[in-house]
Amino acid sequence: MSCKEWIDKLEVQPLEREEYIRLLSEYTEEDRLYAQEKARKIGDHYFGKQIFVRGLIEFTSYCKNDCYYCGLRRSNQKAERYRLTEEEILDCCREGYALGFRTFVLQGGEDPYFTTDRMVSIIRQIKDAYPDCALTLSIGERSRADYAAFRQAGADRYLLRHETANAAHYRILHPEPLSLSNRIACLESLKELGFQTGCGFMVGSPGQTVETLAEDLLLIRRLNPQMVGIGPFIPHGDTPFHDQPTGGLELTLFLLSLIRIQQKQVLLPATTALGTIDPKGRELGILAGANVVMPNLSPVMVRKKYSLYDNKICTGEESAQCRSCLQKRMESIGYTLVTARGDYPA
Ligand code: 5AD
Ligand code: FES
Repeated sequence: MSCKEWIDKLEVQPLEREEYIRLLSEYTEEDRLYAQEKARKIGDHYFGKQIFVRGLIEFTSYCKNDCYYCGLRRSNQKAERYRLTEEEILDCCREGYALGFRTFVLQGGEDPYFTTDRMVSIIRQIKDAYPDCALTLSIGERSRADYAAFRQAGADRYLLRHETANAAHYRILHPEPLSLSNRIACLESLKELGFQTGCGFMVGSPGQTVETLAEDLLLIRRLNPQMVGIGPFIPHGDTPFHDQPTGGLELTLFLLSLIRIQQKQVLLPATTALGTIDPKGRELGILAGANVVMPNLSPVMVRKKYSLYDNKICTGEESAQCRSCLQKRMESIGYTLVTARGDYPA
């Protein structure tokens, strides 16, 4: 079969592992554009020209993990650490609400300061103050009991990228005690507890191959998540991966298209990392099949400190600037930002 035939097949059924591998090894620019056309048609069919926005609040830069790729890893002595107070988090929501955000994403490192009780208190306050908004958590691996408490307190969605579906590759990216099996167990718990759940991975992470990418696409098919977050790997100067190459733009765009074709209604962001490796990265991401953008709502004071990778964009802009910047960018390609929770279609 040819790449175009595999792309056609993907629209009706998943590919075999070998087929994904050959597609990812053999595709040409023409095939990529073919996938992009198909992905965009599927996206427009389900979502029209509407792009959902999520207000991202990076509320702690402390992390107990030591992932080799991430600037917030605990061994990075140069990382500037901060925690927002409850009041500061609620201020971000107030500002975001006024700007039309109806989803807030609380993202942070794995910070033990934010105990179950502290998280539950923050979740309750946000959901009490903004009952018409969705609340997404992105705070890594916790116990199933914690996840249940967060859900009970009113959190609606949870993002936990799986990072890679291949256990050996997972080990290249993360020292112990992290493991792929625990990561997948967490994702399964989150789904069972009724969270709209997101997984995802970095494109071009050290050790990634067409084989591991094939496994990523198969895992995504199996988990069938409501959200998938992918963006290019970007080296951070103060990590062990400082001299590794940045993930490719075209490969990221191709994978966005394949995920849209395979997962149809999935909520798929054009990420900040994509906007960082190319000035038009997020626009290109939307045109390749993404339907979500996540402007930064964190206080400008702390933005540079939440440094996952080098040269991150939007660290000097106020939330209002970020939102209007994105609005203009989306309008420039014929799309509009909408004020809506933007849930996964029931
Ligand atoms: N480059 C790109 N993405 C990164 N992330 C962490 N470090 C990097 C990096 N150097 C991503 C991971 C994580 C998400 C919050 O940010 O995939 O899950
Ligand atoms: Fe943040 Fe453009 S989206 S400044």
